[in-house]
Amino acid sequence: MDSGFERSPEQEALIADWTPPGIDTTKPHSARIYDYFLGGKTNFAPDREAAEQTLLAVPYARTAARANRAFLLRAVAHLARLGIRQFLDLGTGIPVEGRNTHDAAQGIAPNSRVVYVDNDPIVLVHARALLSSHPDGETAYIDADVRDPDAILDHPALVRSLDLDRPLAVMLLAILHFVPDDEKPADLVRRLTERLPSGSYLVLSHLTGDFDPIGTGGGANVYRKSGIPMQLRSRAEVEALVPQGWELLEPGVELVSRWHPEPDAEFPDPADIGCYGLLARKP
Ligand SMILES: C[S@@+](CC[C@H](N)C(=O)[O-])C[C@H]1O[C@@H](n2cnc3c(N)ncnc32)[C@H](O)[C@@H]1O
Repeated sequence: MDSGFERSPEQEALIADWTPPGIDTTKPHSARIYDYFLGGKTNFAPDREAAEQTLLAVPYARTAARANRAFLLRAVAHLARLGIRQFLDLGTGIPVEGRNTHDAAQGIAPNSRVVYVDNDPIVLVHARALLSSHPDGETAYIDADVRDPDAILDHPALVRSLDLDRPLAVMLLAILHFVPDDEKPADLVRRLTERLPSGSYLVLSHLTGDFDPIGTGGGANVYRKSGIPMQLRSRAEVEALVPQGWELLEPGVELVSRWHPEPDAEFPDPADIGCYGLLARKP
């Protein structure tokens, strides 16, 4: 439809150059590189350059990103069917239209409550989209670093939205490979989950070099050279992130594409995924 509105070339140039305030668009960022792989538009030239370099080493990065997001939605739906109504989604990423945690949870149980956490200001800009809750449920957004569990668990927005005396799901999807060993990721998971009651769940996904060490090693180098810490982990190392005593749900630590796939799912080559997923339950 013709709106009858035309922009001058000067206005077009201004819009093309516009960047949200407070966001450093001169350096690539993990959330925006991932957005590029998923086909989103919330990315800038340095993000696209880093993503294209990554694709040279890991040509299947788009397939892997889509498979990870599909795992997120299946895992949340699975937990909603098991009766979980509270979700703490850490490292949320840039929202994907209709494919966010609250969409999957509230699609099954409209009264589900979701608290999103990310430390990237670009995600904060999009928080409004994350807050489009079903009226029977609730969503909230916290701008915080996953490496500071107490700040997250004691945050007023979390305390208002979630009841830590009732089971909830802690979600750490495609985030812990940005936390190297010297920052003690297993300790972090323990601190994020130790206050939770029995019947709570952990959902985790994590990049691995188990299937294509050379390609994924090259991809991880692109991130590191861009200033983004990245550590790939083996199946055993991913399993070791699960707090002691928690029970792994079937099928255990599995490629995200193979974790309870949809009946009509296609199975890409494991080397084209390179990302493990798991669900665990606190007994
Ligand atoms: C690859 S995206 C994954 C998005 C989503 N979890 C998914 O699996 O589809 C990783 C997200 O983690 C966020 N992130 C990375 N390090 C973080 C940290 N230390 N604290 C909070 N968020 C972090 C990034 O900003 C980005 O949004």
